[in-house]
Amino acid sequence: MGCRFEVIDYNSQTMNFWQDILAKKGMILALSPMDGVSDYPFRAISKKYGQMDLVFTEFANVEGVCRSKSTRILQHFDFDQAQRPLIAQIFGKTPAYFKQVSVLLCELGVDGVDINMGCPAPTVASHGSGAALIRTPELAQEIVRAVQEGVREWSEGLEMQDCPDLSAPMITEVAVKKNFFGLVDPDRRHRPTVSVKTRIGFHQEEIDTWLPHLIELAPAAISLHGRTLKQSYSGQADWDVIGRAATLVKKMNPEIVFLGNGDVPNYEVAVEKVQTYGVDGVLIGRGSFGQPHVFLPQAKRQEFLVSHNLFAIALEHAQLFEQTYGHLENYRFLPMRKHLAWYTRGIEGAAAIRAELVRSDSAVAVAEILRRHRLI
Ligand SMILES: Cc1cc2nc3c(=O)[nH]c(=O)nc-3n(C[C@H](O)[C@H](O)[C@H](O)COP(=O)(O)O)c2cc1C
Repeated sequence: MGCRFEVIDYNSQTMNFWQDILAKKGMILALSPMDGVSDYPFRAISKKYGQMDLVFTEFANVEGVCRSKSTRILQHFDFDQAQRPLIAQIFGKTPAYFKQVSVLLCELGVDGVDINMGCPAPTVASHGSGAALIRTPELAQEIVRAVQEGVREWSEGLEMQDCPDLSAPMITEVAVKKNFFGLVDPDRRHRPTVSVKTRIGFHQEEIDTWLPHLIELAPAAISLHGRTLKQSYSGQADWDVIGRAATLVKKMNPEIVFLGNGDVPNYEVAVEKVQTYGVDGVLIGRGSFGQPHVFLPQAKRQEFLVSHNLFAIALEHAQLFEQTYGHLENYRFLPMRKHLAWYTRGIEGAAAIRAELVRSDSAVAVAEILRRHRLI
């Protein structure tokens, strides 16, 4: 924050950044998008210590960006240069809003725009958004086209001011964010990629009928969570289905980067999934809670645990949370508390410390608790 960086060109002329990482590293390891979890401080800490290839923001509702009076919703997209390549995720059901929010994201300078077609939460899916789009493939296609159009027209000169549903405060807030996070104006020659994250089906697995609707539109990447909407987060992710989907995607369009997702706890299991199921990479979500090192290979994980104190990282996270949001109206420390509890996962006898941490209301209080227990 505060300092300026050179723009790194992740979108080379011939390859997009997904393909570029894949060509260089043989697989992609990414931090999955998680609403209420993967905010700016969480992504910053995860990237600093986990060094994953890509990070996704938590999702934001395009209807909210286009209709809300408050600009607070743009917080979901907060990022700085250290988090690149940064993929901003959006959800909704109104193609015209998707297009306009894509223009806003281009202007903010994100590297990719990802469309959520996987959220099973009733607050999202019962409105026809998220995983409900599996049921309305024509609308899903319209949405992908709208985002592709927004990104293309931005690269040809379309401005946020040309978008009727982006309010003046929302447009101003983009400039404020860029200044706060030290982001330079993006180069219109390098458009963000468009990708989709989805599930294997609605009530049951239906990849053979669902995925071709997406593949046809040639998104840069597709990420597939191996559960249906109906399963929500129950049972196990079905990696056999993800493997079949990988074959389907590669057969229909080998240019599309295909990532699998679900129940992967660490780097080694991710490598095993790539080797066994033919995916180009893996997204890790819940396994990373309070454990940024899960993205590192085992030897580095062990080194990390010797050279780092997870409680010191928890405090760093709390301090960054305060620095990022403390100056905002209606600021609350509450969303930080769950992270503090996660940092104590797997630590024997941590129940008492956890009970204190989840009642803390500032980084100073966190420091006091950790010092009193001689943890830092
Ligand atoms: C708290 C929480 C919030 C989530 N929010 C999102 C979201 O905003 N966008 C999305 O595509 N997936 C979201 N997901 C799904 C995850 O990205 C991921 O697909 C899922 O957790 C399975 O991966 P995992 O087993 O590695 O956690 C969320 C999951 C959790 C647990």
